[in-house]
Amino acid sequence: MRGLRVAVLGATGLVGQTILKVMEDRELPVEQLVLLATDGKGREISFGGRSIAVESVESMDWRRVDVAFFAASNPASQRWAPEAARHGVTVVDKSSFFRMDPAVPLVVPEVNLESVGDARIIASPNCSTIQLVVALNPLRQHFGIQRVIVSTYQAVSGTGRDAVDALDRESRGYLAEEAVEPSVYPVPIAFNVLPYCDRFLDDDYTGEEWKLTRETQKIFDQPLAVSATAVRVPVFVSHSESVYVELEDNVRLPEVRDVLMNAPGIRVVDDPGTGLVPTPRAAADQDLVWVGRIRRDLHHPRGLHLFVVADNLRKGAATNAVQIVEGLAHRWR
Ligand SMILES: NC(=O)c1ccc[n+]([C@@H]2O[C@H](COP(=O)([O-])OP(=O)(O)OC[C@H]3O[C@@H](n4cnc5c(N)ncnc54)[C@H](OP(=O)(O)O)[C@@H]3O)[C@@H](O)[C@H]2O)c1
Repeated sequence: MRGLRVAVLGATGLVGQTILKVMEDRELPVEQLVLLATDGKGREISFGGRSIAVESVESMDWRRVDVAFFAASNPASQRWAPEAARHGVTVVDKSSFFRMDPAVPLVVPEVNLESVGDARIIASPNCSTIQLVVALNPLRQHFGIQRVIVSTYQAVSGTGRDAVDALDRESRGYLAEEAVEPSVYPVPIAFNVLPYCDRFLDDDYTGEEWKLTRETQKIFDQPLAVSATAVRVPVFVSHSESVYVELEDNVRLPEVRDVLMNAPGIRVVDDPGTGLVPTPRAAADQDLVWVGRIRRDLHHPRGLHLFVVADNLRKGAATNAVQIVEGLAHRWR
């Protein structure tokens, strides 16, 4: 791949900052970098040993770049992605705005990179969906899947910078026995568990739960029966998921382990005898999806249980986006 001219919209946010780190870690050949946010506010961010000024997206000339990572908000993606694409920019969008648009591919490189075609706007799925489909895809390919029931344990960084600050502040306040008003979630998140992420919809499921269902179906191009319960927990980084999978055939555990161990993007961490299981803190700052607690259901011969953990800011957001660009290297030979 030749040197790329790259823009990051939302460069001061959690995902934007992680994109910068992942580009450095994976040595994406960045020749020029434009950092964008609502406005510059005189902020500077260091990348590759240089300090780069943050610019306002309002005055961006999109002809300056080949690739743009969008990690800002739905309104920002709606406003700026079509304009960037019109100028020939390949946009990898982390917001949910375009995800269910039939004209926009929704991509996890381990699963469906080929769906990109010649699209200029490419959507990256929700963080909880990405780790789920990476774990499910090899099982789907080798055994077939009839249904999935997933319960998530989602970190506050999935909500953004303000939620990380809120957990920190509330935790300190709680331990100091000082009253701290909840600021991001409707009730305190410190030392608590919120049995919902996102808004409730008319059917009593939340938006996050529907994202897990609909995005998985779009990525697999299959109306797979996925039901979800999305839960917010007081963890800073990494989402965990307890996943029940019904295969099309009886579970053959050694084969299941073998398939998962040889699948792209997965690290099997599963030695209960020595206490080796996937945990959010161990999986933080890693690019792989950790899979463990692999066991058959007690009552259903086709039922399989897994525990799936991944860093929501890296594989759930930044790494997935950077991998998409790596997978499109032919565009910039
Ligand atoms: N956190 C995750 O795990 C995760 C995972 C997958 C997808 N996402 C999605 O990624 C996006 C960013 O999330 P985040 O967690 O990084 O949020 P965040 O920490 O709150 O950061 C948001 C960033 O976007 C910028 N921004 C917001 N509105 C903007 C606008 N209208 N125009 C230009 N810049 C704007 C902010 O800059 P200013 O400070 O200048 O406003 C900031 O740099 C969201 O769409 C989110 O849904 C997040």
